[in-house]
Amino acid sequence: MTELKTVKFDKPVIKGSIKVPGDKSISHRAIMLGSIAEGRTSIKGFLDGEDCLRTVDIFKQLGVTIERMGTNVVIDSPGLRNWRQPAVDLYAGNSGTTARLMLGILSASEIESVLTGDDSLSKRPMKRVTGPLELMGASIKGGDLLPLTITGGKLQSIEYDMPVESAQVKSAILFAGLNAEGDTTVTETTISRDHTERMLKQFGADISQQGTSSTIRGGSVLTGTDVTVPGDISSAAFFMVAAAIVEGGTCDFIDVGLNPTRTGIIEVLRQMGAQVELLEQTDEVGEPYGRIRVSHSSIHGIEIGGDIIPTLIDELPVIALLATQAKGKTIIKDAAELRVKETDRIAAVTTELTKLGARIEATEDGMIIEGPTPLTGGTLKSYGDHRLGMMAAIASLVSEGAIHIEDPSCIAISYPNFFEHLEELALTTYEE
Ligand code: S3P
Repeated sequence: MTELKTVKFDKPVIKGSIKVPGDKSISHRAIMLGSIAEGRTSIKGFLDGEDCLRTVDIFKQLGVTIERMGTNVVIDSPGLRNWRQPAVDLYAGNSGTTARLMLGILSASEIESVLTGDDSLSKRPMKRVTGPLELMGASIKGGDLLPLTITGGKLQSIEYDMPVESAQVKSAILFAGLNAEGDTTVTETTISRDHTERMLKQFGADISQQGTSSTIRGGSVLTGTDVTVPGDISSAAFFMVAAAIVEGGTCDFIDVGLNPTRTGIIEVLRQMGAQVELLEQTDEVGEPYGRIRVSHSSIHGIEIGGDIIPTLIDELPVIALLATQAKGKTIIKDAAELRVKETDRIAAVTTELTKLGARIEATEDGMIIEGPTPLTGGTLKSYGDHRLGMMAAIASLVSEGAIHIEDPSCIAISYPNFFEHLEELALTTYEE
């Protein structure tokens, strides 16, 4: 039987402050670089969500010692050249970041392995990564989809112009380039999240950036270091939207990541008329982070497309929900990548929000939403996609009836304590 979670609050008030769990992209990279490097790496603020735990399990199979004490992680690694041959297939679960970045790392190692994933991941395109890696000389067998067999070996550097906007593809090539001969350059049309570049520098790699190109020199041996992971702005986005759409809502986000390659949601909220204040900002961990406050105000539709898309790609499901409460038309375009995420997010978001009475239409590369529309209750599918599950839960804050979420457990992929935070914020009785 499908698991069902019912969410309904009587007159919810979004008021308070939260510290969302650690950034998923940065947590993956900290485990990866801590395992590639020799010696000890200590991570604070690690996201113990399902996706990042798959990355941890894979490196344990490769002989890396990884101790977790909640969100603190200590890695002791012999370094990439001294990993051991895994006894089992390497399972990436639902995690595209694990699969794609591991392809780059394993291709340049001395390991032969089989990389597998769950049903959803086994349908997601890998050619975008295996193509450039093969140009570097990688041996990857199995076609465009997982499972894939990777025989690590010596790679040559390349200069690669990316045909898709994807930080996962860029990162896979940079990780392969780290252990290839010569200088590898990756050029993007629009800069996607740059956590890989920032963290490679922190671990001592020789990497430089110019415009939309990143160049890494092959052959550096990395040494373990300390990494602090800020809160995930993609997780905070759900409660930012909650604060923006619930009458009288206001919420502070503590220690949330503010890397400019990820802050498109802040820009969109501001453009739509919500209030977003930056209360504090620090840059000391290699990644900017700070405290921001989002408050309700009347919001209106806008057009979202072009260079901003990579900076908010994972936030588009909840932005679509936001748009149902905004006055006028919101057009989301240039976001065809949504079709190859954990599920086809254009089809899924459109189908599910339509069930609640939203006026939303799918286009090839986005969605068109007319608002504001009152939302009804209903039973919504998560499609096993964490961001769809959380979008459904946030919809309950403005829906007339209860929202029943099918298969809500996938939310633990990126936000294990999501429902606790939702209850804390929505049940707060606030007195002026
Ligand atoms: C990620 C990059 C993005 C994003 C994903 C995490 C990363 O994917 O959607 O959730 O950590 O590099 P693409 O690189 O496919 O755009």
